[in-house]
Formats: sequence, C-alpha cells, structure tokens
Amino acid sequence: MIMQNLRVKEILNLPESGIQVKVNGWVRTKRDSKGFSFLEVNDGSCIKSIQVIVDSSVDGYAENILKITTGSSLTIKGVVKDSPGKGQKYEIHAGNVFIHGIAPQEYPLQKKHHSLEFLREIAHLRPRTNAIGSVSRLRSSLSYGVHQFFQDRGFYYVNTPIITTSDCEGAGEMFRVTTLDLREAPRTEKGDIDYAKDFFGKPASLTVSGQLEGEIYALSLGNVYTFGPTFRAENSNTPRHLAEFWMIEPEMAFYHLKEDMDLAEEFVKFLVKYVLDKNSDELDFFNARIDTTVFSRLENIANTSFERITYTEAIKILEKNNNEFEFPVSWGVDIQSEHEKYLSEKVFNKPVIVFDYPKEIKAFYMRLNDDEKTVGAMDVLVPRIGELIGGSEREERYEMLSKRIRSIGLSEEDYWWYLDLRKYGTVPHAGFGLGFERLILLVTGLQNIRDVIPFPRYPGNARF
Ligand code: 4AD
Ligand code: MG
Repeated sequence: MIMQNLRVKEILNLPESGIQVKVNGWVRTKRDSKGFSFLEVNDGSCIKSIQVIVDSSVDGYAENILKITTGSSLTIKGVVKDSPGKGQKYEIHAGNVFIHGIAPQEYPLQKKHHSLEFLREIAHLRPRTNAIGSVSRLRSSLSYGVHQFFQDRGFYYVNTPIITTSDCEGAGEMFRVTTLDLREAPRTEKGDIDYAKDFFGKPASLTVSGQLEGEIYALSLGNVYTFGPTFRAENSNTPRHLAEFWMIEPEMAFYHLKEDMDLAEEFVKFLVKYVLDKNSDELDFFNARIDTTVFSRLENIANTSFERITYTEAIKILEKNNNEFEFPVSWGVDIQSEHEKYLSEKVFNKPVIVFDYPKEIKAFYMRLNDDEKTVGAMDVLVPRIGELIGGSEREERYEMLSKRIRSIGLSEEDYWWYLDLRKYGTVPHAGFGLGFERLILLVTGLQNIRDVIPFPRYPGNARF
C-alpha cells in the first residue's frame, strides 16, 4: 500500500479509514498508559488535532517515545483507523515515530488555560494555540475573500507605495523615514533639519493610506482596490488602534456617495457570509470560547439592511442622551467610540452608516456638499467595534479642491499631481477604507486588536 503524506485536515476529511499516512506536527498532549502512548498531534492545518496511538512494540518506544513531551515536533507514519473515542472520526495507529525536536518542560504552552494577555508576551509561540491559530486561518481566508469580492466585480488590484511624501489624512500622524544620523543631522541656515540632504531629498514617511495613489489608478482603470499595510503614529493606547494595520481601499470612478455606501454595505455582508460559509470550525470555537454572540451577530449583519442616517440626524439622537456619555456631543464635534457604539448597539442594533459630516472634522479631499457646511463623507459603524469603514466622495472640482487645500494650510505645490487629476479629465469618484483588523475583531468576538494581528505594533511595543 502506498503511503500518503497528509495534513491533519486532509486526514479528518478522508472518506474512509484504512490508508497508510505520514503526518507531521506538534504534540499538544501526551498520556502514557500500560503498553501504549496517546498523543494529540496538531499541525496547524485546522483547529482539530489527531489522536496518535503508539504501541510499546514500536521501534525505540522506551528510549524515545516515552521522552516525548508537549510541544515536541514529530513525523508519524501509521494507519488511519476509525476511532472509538467520542468527538473524533479517525485516529492513527503509529508504525513509526520520528522526533524532530523535544520541547523541554519549560515550554510555555502546557495544556492549561492561557490568558490572551499572556499569549501576547509569547507572540512567537501563540499561533500554536487554538485561539491565535484560528485567528491566523481566518485572516488568510478573509484576505482571499477580499480579493474574490473585488476580482469578481472587475476591480483591479493596485499596489500603492509604503514610503510617501504626502499625508493623506492630513492629521500629521506619520512615522518619519530617514537615513539621517539623528545625533548630527545636517541643518539649514535657519537651523532646521536639512531634508534636502536626506535619502529622498525631502521629508518622507510611512503611508497612512493608499487612497491618493488609488485615486490615480481609479481615474485610469475605473475601479481599483488596494490591500496593504498602513501606519499611524497616533498615540492611542486603545483596544481598537494599532500603529501598523492592514487596510483595504477600493476607489471607483463615476461613483457618488450613494453608490459608495451601497458597495461598502455589500462588501461587509459578503465578507461576513464568506466566513460563515468557509470557516465554521473557527467560528464554532470563537462562539463557544470567546463570545457566545458570534453567530447571532454575524447572521444579523448578513441579513439586515444597514441603517443610513446623516451626521446631523445622528447628533440629534445622541444629544438626547448626552447624560450617558463621557464626552457629550453637539453639532460640529467628532463622533467618538462611545457614540458609535451607542448608535449601532443601543439605538439601531445593527450596522449604521453615518454620512454628510461637518467639513471641519474631515479630511481635505472630501467633496463639499451644497450646504457648504458638510462634506460627502460616510462611516460604517458596527456593534461592538464602532467604526469599521471610513470613506467619502472625493472633491473632483479643481477650484473647490485648491481652495480647500489652501484654506487648511496645505500647499498646492505638494499636491500638484493630485490637482492635475482634476485638471485633466476630472470625473466624480468615491472610495472607502476598511480596517482589516477591525473586521477580524468583528468576526471573532475578540476584544483586543492586539490579538488579531500576528505582531502588533502600538506605543511602546514593536517586539518580534
Ligand atoms: O477612516 P480612515 O482614517 O480612512 C482613510 O484612511 C481613508 N483614506 C480611506 C479611504 O477613503 N480610502 O481609516 C479607514 C479605516 C477605519 O474605518 C478603521 O477601520 C481603520 O481604517 N483604522 C484603523 N485600524 C486600526 N488601527 C488604527 N489606528 C486605525 N485607523 C483607522
Ligand atoms: Mg475614519
């Protein structure tokens, strides 16, 4: 009989037992009883482990098998048998066990409950746990789903730069990229740092968003999207903010705000249905162990139409409940996390799209509405997370945009190419950005964004 090299996931999906397999993995637990050892082996291919039974007649049993510990890495050759045990379809009866590496007793992932806080301290080992392993598989699956959504709709994927000399969100929260020696940086006559002598000849930073370059491609290819890392040096030590996070940014020529909101809603629903369909093992785990409302919340998002209200309407609702907030609101102030949750959880109990925000609290590129007070911005707020998506219709009128750039103290020269897009064949266009880690929080029910990205970066931490 030929021996097949299979992953645990493939073995568990076999139509029948009886075949010879070779499987690799790490030991989750081991139990020795008279004449036998029982190993739970996990290889990361799925949340489930496979039970391996090693008979004391196997070569090297006393010298080697008895020394195997939790965390040890093995290659097992054996026969797949139907398992009499509850909750498992198959087990492997080992004919041969090869030990790659033994994990000494101080291996931190011994069989017991580990807090997510503790696992953050061992980010190099935590993907071997059920929780973080499932997060990792979900991230992979949803990344594929993102591409599928856009590719199926004829969008082109564009790669926008990581290093940039423009600040898209205009908030000045950028990480500087320099090769200057900080101790003796060259100075101009005025005493400022002389960036003309720096690597790029001017101040450069890590991008906060690929949008501006995305617009260039939308105004050439029609509909495009980016999916890449973005960086924000905002000093926010919250469970929803990272200094490095992944963002998906579609940009569509000839779209207005209404179509932008329609696409955002369709996108969120697609992704939620995608995981319900493809990742039931992971969702079962999160629903059982992390948040018992995972399935009900996701079904709710997949099956209801999102509420849409203007910022002005949102403020009216919130103002009536100002006594419940740490930061009371009035027209003109930005909506914060507590208000986002209030609207999506208490008032509507479903995702809410708030649109037409005061221009003063939004970025320079958003299209001015006829009231000249508000801009065509929209945020998608979802229960438990708050803001999941931020987007807008872009100002496509040359004069309006250049006026806006000047009025908030930016320089037209810096945005010459962005203005050119309005000079040469301008068209209405719109787009949005979805924070990938916030999406993972939504589907897993996890509370802290530091648990849903492999190596979180936040103030005071860039380990691993
Ligand atoms: O609302 P934001 O700042 O919008 C933009 O960057 C636009 N340029 C997008 C566009 O129109 N193309 O960010 C978009 C989303 C937010 O809604 C949020 O989900 C996520 O990115 N986000 C963060 N996620 C984690 N950590 C942070 N510090 C984040 N800042 C924004
Ligand atoms: Mg935003």
